[in-house]
Amino acid sequence: MEVVITADPGFVAADAIAAHVRPGAVLGLATGSSPLPVYAELLRRRDAGDLSFDGVQAFTLDEYVDLPRAHPQSYHAVIRREFTEAAGITVDAPNSEATDIPAEAARYETAIRNAGGIDVQLLGIGTDGHIGFNEPGSSLASRTRVKTLTPQTRADNARFFDSIDDVPVHVLTQGLGTILEARHLVLVATGEGKAAAVAAAVEGPVSAMCPSSVLQLHRHVTFVVDEAAAADLRLTDYYRFVADHKPEWQAW
Ligand code: GLP
Repeated sequence: MEVVITADPGFVAADAIAAHVRPGAVLGLATGSSPLPVYAELLRRRDAGDLSFDGVQAFTLDEYVDLPRAHPQSYHAVIRREFTEAAGITVDAPNSEATDIPAEAARYETAIRNAGGIDVQLLGIGTDGHIGFNEPGSSLASRTRVKTLTPQTRADNARFFDSIDDVPVHVLTQGLGTILEARHLVLVATGEGKAAAVAAAVEGPVSAMCPSSVLQLHRHVTFVVDEAAAADLRLTDYYRFVADHKPEWQAW
């Protein structure tokens, strides 16, 4: 695992994502506020002529169930608004309006496989350590399926809705086993509210109680965190030392 502590996580994570962008590349995209600076930086590079998304396609991590796709807070609407429409990238997402949810979950798994798998998956992290919407207690081998949100996640996400009662209870999310199949995982976390979750994910035991700790089993993970989100890590001096001595030939 690589842990990058930086004042500009959006820029660093954009570097990691851009390294995979080429015709035929498959991106895994995340919603939430943490990835927004990454999308802004990727679009800035595209506008500057330094990056092209031609021939790139994308998949999202998760979606609220029972929220129409046209709702401004559906993750399909959010990712199109924040990134893929401007980037000209075709995006597939779990369909919140599917009447047969297990069939939709299976379709999504097949679509990712048929695309050749995800080259690079961007991730945020919930305050309870979830990735996608894999809440504590999620099977570390799980596939795309329906999940029930914890009260904490519904409270965290209430800021996007008029009231907490409007936050959907159920979601469709890529499973932890699905996420682990992406070839490179880039997790972005900022702010003191994420410090405990980041420490548990990077340095805690691998446990379903902290779903993001499963990333310790992946061969190519990059955590990109700011000082505040790194505050509870024990090996910060070592992570900085590694960054200062990163061999020039070592790519993302
Ligand atoms: C939601 C999303 C996650 C995201 C998390 C944190 O629960 N399903 O993918 O990582 O929010 O969001 P934020 O980055 O806004 O803190």
